[in-house]
Order: sequence, then structure tokens, then C-alpha cells
Amino acid sequence: MMETLHVALIGFGTVGKGVYESIGKQREQLEALLRKKVSIEAILIQNGEIKREVDDRVLVTTDVDELLNLPKLDVVFEAIIGVEPAHTYLSRFIEKGCHVITANKELLATSGNELRKLAEKHNVGLRYEAAVAASIPILSTLREGIRSNQIKEISGILNGTSNFILNECQVSGLSFEEALRLAQEKGYAEADPTNDVDGWDAFYKILILSDLVYGKQPEWESISRKGIREVTSFDIKKAEALGLRIKHIANLRLQKEEPVITVESVAVSEAHPFFNVTGVNNALSVAGNLAGNITLTGPGAGADPTASAMVEDLLSIDRNSTEPVYYSQIEKGNAVEEDFLLIGDDSEVRGLEVLPTSEKGAYYVTGKRSEVEALLEHSKASLYPLQGLTLNHSTSRLAVV
Ligand SMILES: NC(=O)c1ccc[n+]([C@@H]2O[C@H](COP(=O)([O-])OP(=O)(O)OC[C@H]3O[C@@H](n4cnc5c(N)ncnc54)[C@H](OP(=O)(O)O)[C@@H]3O)[C@@H](O)[C@H]2O)c1
Repeated sequence: MMETLHVALIGFGTVGKGVYESIGKQREQLEALLRKKVSIEAILIQNGEIKREVDDRVLVTTDVDELLNLPKLDVVFEAIIGVEPAHTYLSRFIEKGCHVITANKELLATSGNELRKLAEKHNVGLRYEAAVAASIPILSTLREGIRSNQIKEISGILNGTSNFILNECQVSGLSFEEALRLAQEKGYAEADPTNDVDGWDAFYKILILSDLVYGKQPEWESISRKGIREVTSFDIKKAEALGLRIKHIANLRLQKEEPVITVESVAVSEAHPFFNVTGVNNALSVAGNLAGNITLTGPGAGADPTASAMVEDLLSIDRNSTEPVYYSQIEKGNAVEEDFLLIGDDSEVRGLEVLPTSEKGAYYVTGKRSEVEALLEHSKASLYPLQGLTLNHSTSRLAVV
């Protein structure tokens, strides 16, 4: 007789319900791949008053101890919001010897390394593919596809809502407020959009990548995290006139052997892999020292794409539940100069030597980020890192006149 894998779900919202339904939809294929039956034993929810459309034999409860006391439980899928009580719950399931699969990015950004060590100690798997960019298999690519590479840099459009808003501002000429309202009407943005438009969601995701790839994170206070509220329609039009698009990009790279993260709006040229990433899609670009630049694009949220990643995690756990922690070897990196698009009137950029563009009020400049930012500290000009365009550095160099 075929062995049975006993699973439980924590959370039955967009993601939890998506996992429940996906296991049902893909059951035949899943069980053939696992060579095991999959049985959903229980679901933990918060509001016991709501009727859930689930099989009668599935235990639905608001009491986590009822799940912990199940006679057989192999794997727990977690999809609730925030660090607590998810952290306490997952620690308890790991200590009990259950494999854990989670989509909770805030939890992982905060406690990922601690949970990974706990999982290693208890010889169980911890998987979280869905937490970074839903169905885009970025973690499995890093863990299995380019494992022998040194990872020099990863950048990503990691928040679909911000990408949608910037895209609507650019294509339809909407203001930030109008595009945000449209995103809310379409169900892409929450009533409180802070997590998305102020860069927190992308920030958590790039921190998870930093932990996975380099085994550590920069100090949170040292990270430049900017959202998209400051990007004006005027800036978007100026950039567009120069053949550039403003994209919200989270970036992870090494400087002096330490991971450095920025989360900010960037001006990208047509040559950049993110130029044509539109709508609510996500994209990730990874630079490996052997593999070169790899770009992955796809849906970064939604019930089915997120469930897809979590069900794949189930297969991955079954294949190799106690896989050792993966870190890319750290290669020496140096502080580098960057190129920027600077938008402002002549008086705002006075004192800087910049390369004029074909657009009045738009300039290119090259320099070390901290120096450029310091020189613009009291200016109202907008500064966007510039990517995908090669400047003539002898003429774009930053200097005080
Ligand atoms: N939505 C996406 O596309 C997406 C994509 C990737 C990752 N994620 C992550 O996945 C997680 C879930 O997101 P979601 O969109 O599915 O949220 P959601 O629709 O708001 O659902 C949250 C679920 O968690 C349950 N819950 C909340 N607190 C609980 C507690 N203390 N104990 C037990 N159950 C509790 C809720 O119970 P009730 O039903 O009783 O209220 C609800 O079923 C989040 O961490 C999110 O960041 C979401």
C-alpha cells in the first residue's frame, strides 16, 4: 500500500485556500511524483465563526494545540500574516519534527536564519519559495541551478503592486494617487498600501535572499529603503523622453565582503532586463560568476502562483528534507561608482558638474552614491540610479564646480 504524507495548513486565506485547492487539483500528478498519498488532516484559522468549504474529514480549528497533538503530522504549510504568532507556531512544529513550508516573508526576513538553524538541529526541512516572488523559482534556482557559482549580485522587481502603479503612471499618464486607486479597485493593493508602496514588501524579500545567499543581512538601519511615493509623473515623463523607464528595484550585492541592499526607484534603459516587465509581474536577475546574468519573470502574487511554489516545496522536501544550508561563497567586492539620472532645474543642480541630456532639466552623473547624495542633500532634484545604459564616464563624472 502507498505510504501517506500527513499535512496541515496554518491560515486559510488567499494562500492557504490556494494550497488546499491546488493539492486537490494536482493530486494525481503530485502523488505520482511523491509516490505517496497526500492527506490534509487539519486547518488552523483565526475566526472560528466562518464556514470553510473543506472536506468534512478535515479538522478546522482555532487551537494550534489540536494540530500539534495530531497522531501523525509530517508537513505544515504556514500562510498567516506577520511575525507572531507564526514564529512561535513554526518553532513548535519544527521541534516536534515536522517539515515546514511558509509564504510569510516578514517572518523569514526577521527570523529566517534562526528558524533554519532550528530546522537543521531537528533534522527537518524549512522551505519558503513562495515568500520571495511566488511562482518564480528563484530560491530553487539559487539552491539547485547555480549552486557552484559565486553570486555577485541579485536585483529584482519584487513588488507587483508598485510595478503596476509605475507602469500605469507611465503608460496611461495617471498620477500616483490615481494609479494606486486603480490598483486597489483591481484587488492588487490593500486598503493600507504601506507595505507595498513604501518598499517594505520588497525589503523583506531581498533580506530573505541576503540570508540565503550570503548567510547574513546588512544592519536594517543601514539599508536605503525607498518606496514609490516620491516618483512624480513629471520624472516619469522626463525619463521616458530619454528612452528610460522608472522601475522599483531591490538590489543585493557585495561591498568589501559584506552584503549591501538598496530598495529604490531606478531609471532603466531598453537594454535592461526589467524594461519590459509590466503589470503586477515580478522579475529577478542574478549574476553568477560562471553562469552570467540570468533573468526570471512571472507572477509575484496570487492564490495559484503562490500555491504553486508551496506545492513545489513539498516535492523538494520529500526529495531532500535535510539538505544542508546553502550559502554562495563570498567574493571580495569593492565600493563602486554608479551612474544616475538626475531630474531638477538648473538652480537645483548648481554646484555639480553633470552631463546634460537631450532633455532640459535631466542630467546624467557618475559617482559614489554617498558622495552624490551628500551633494544633493539640500536640493529638491530627484536622483535615480541608472541601469542598462553605458555612459561616457570621462564626461559624466561627478565634481563640484
Ligand atoms: N496573497 C499573496 O498573493 C501572497 C503571495 C506570497 C506570500 N504571501 C504571504 O502569505 C501569507 C498569507 O497571505 P494571504 O494573502 O493568504 O492572507 P489572508 O488572505 O489575509 O489570509 C490570512 C489567513 O491567516 C489566518 N490567520 C491570521 N492570523 C491567524 C492566527 N493567529 N492563527 C491562525 N490563523 C490566522 C486567517 O484566518 P481567518 O480566515 O480566520 O481570518 C486567514 O485565513 C502572508 O504572510 C503573505 O505575506 C501572500
